[in-house]
Amino acid sequence: MADEKPETLSIVIIGASGDLARRKIIPALFALYCQNLIPGPFRVFGFARTAMTHEAFRQMASEHLTCRYVPHSRCEDRMAEFLSRCYYQEGQYDSADSLLDLYRALRTEEGSVRAHRMFYLAVPPAVFLGVARAIGNAGLVECGGGEGWSRVVIEKPFGRDRATSDVLVEEMGRVFREDQTYRIDHYLGKEIVQNLMVLRFANLFFEPVWNRMFIERVSIAWSEEQGIGSRGGYFDGYGIIRDVMQNHLLQILALMAMEEPTHYDARAVCDEKVRLLRSIPPLTVDDVVIGQYRATERKDQVLPGYRQEVQVPPDSRTPTYAAVRLKINNRRWEGVPFLMTAGKGLSHRTNEIRVRFRAVPRNIFCGPEGTCLEPNELVIRIQPDEGLVLRLMNKVPGLGMELAPTDLNLRYAAAFPVQIPDAYECLLLDVLKGDRSLFIRSDELAVAWDIFTPVLHALEEQRVEPLPYAIGSEGPV
Ligand code: NDP
Ligand code: BG6
Repeated sequence: MADEKPETLSIVIIGASGDLARRKIIPALFALYCQNLIPGPFRVFGFARTAMTHEAFRQMASEHLTCRYVPHSRCEDRMAEFLSRCYYQEGQYDSADSLLDLYRALRTEEGSVRAHRMFYLAVPPAVFLGVARAIGNAGLVECGGGEGWSRVVIEKPFGRDRATSDVLVEEMGRVFREDQTYRIDHYLGKEIVQNLMVLRFANLFFEPVWNRMFIERVSIAWSEEQGIGSRGGYFDGYGIIRDVMQNHLLQILALMAMEEPTHYDARAVCDEKVRLLRSIPPLTVDDVVIGQYRATERKDQVLPGYRQEVQVPPDSRTPTYAAVRLKINNRRWEGVPFLMTAGKGLSHRTNEIRVRFRAVPRNIFCGPEGTCLEPNELVIRIQPDEGLVLRLMNKVPGLGMELAPTDLNLRYAAAFPVQIPDAYECLLLDVLKGDRSLFIRSDELAVAWDIFTPVLHALEEQRVEPLPYAIGSEGPV
């Protein structure tokens, strides 16, 4: 938006009545608005099948807005200003007439100035293609008063396997070019995940030890306390490997293991991630353990198991837990296992990366029976309580020579007393700026599916029974 020509921005949320729109997208837009980060005059258009007036939509939109970025005394005014820019249009997702109505509503508000448009497809995957085609057919993509940009944001899951993902990419590509397409993996917007490249490439001392000679293994663990809740209909068709591993955790792995990009720009970073992912051989059933949470009693209350959740068949074998071992066939990582675990209905919520270094060779402080102390470990805590911990061996102060592992602990809350933005704030701002560094390119998506598709198919074809674990436990034994 560099030149002086008057312009406007329309942010269209398709599926605006849904959970994602209400909990994440609209609050993130409000947070950007409070920081004056949404350029120029803009409007938010909600579109969905539910009947709602503009007022009802504004009421719904206000539910999750927070005053994190403005003083409380001014917050109500800012909310009122923001909500007055929100409009709602009811319609069917694949109906040309409905989308033409939306088109007219946009044109009326945009006037004759140059209009930029961002479409956010916050609908279940089954609806993606129908709505994208209808958007294209209604002329919404290219008819923004001339010369404006159009961008589309889509949420995972991007297909169920390599083949369905390819179809989605190809069909979406008939409406939006690749450079107009922003495939969100919201973990890439998380503060600590964005810090991974900085940690590795802006510090001198990691690179010399960041390889098979010094690192024994890398583990990426992810867990949530709650079960599936109301998302059974979606989750049962996907399972934890597709829901979390093939995307969020694999992205983290790629950033941890890739080579240094030639520049810090979207293309160079993505090229390196793709190169790394191509070095990972497809998983087999032997590389994977799956589990499923079962009912348990807690304080006079029965917590339902996965098979009792709404919209989940009573004989479902969909995994709610998985542990996988990945290999990276390149010179840096040959022989170093990359372990991933992910589970719902576990004892606590966490996401952390552990880099375990090798033991010191011929350590002069090893005990008489050859027992050695723990090797160094770097722990990168993505959530909750973001931080970095480096476990070092130290002499315990005192007269003897007693050694103990001690932590150098960098807690974000203490080191950076600022508001940590929500991932969606960061990602939506990047879409507005046209920066695709934190989004998934189509070739990257394809290789990510190549790693997981064979094992997903094998688990389904062999109807592998997941190991049971009690909800709220540490997972399967
Ligand atoms: P919802 O299930 O809440 O669906 C969004 C809207 O789509 C609903 O309000 C409904 O609107 C419409 N809809 C729902 N089911 C159908 C259907 N079978 N056919 C047609 N329309 C339907 O989804 P979310 O908002 O949770 O998620 C949207 C997308 O984002 C999904 O792809 C999801 O996987 C992804 N996602 C969501 C996350 C979250 O935290 N919620 C996190 C990461 C990804 P109406 O009936 O008014 O048309
Ligand atoms: C989503 C998954 O992509 O990420 C959910 O579909 C999961 O199952 C969610 O709960 C976790 O996101 P966050 O940001 O709360 O860790």
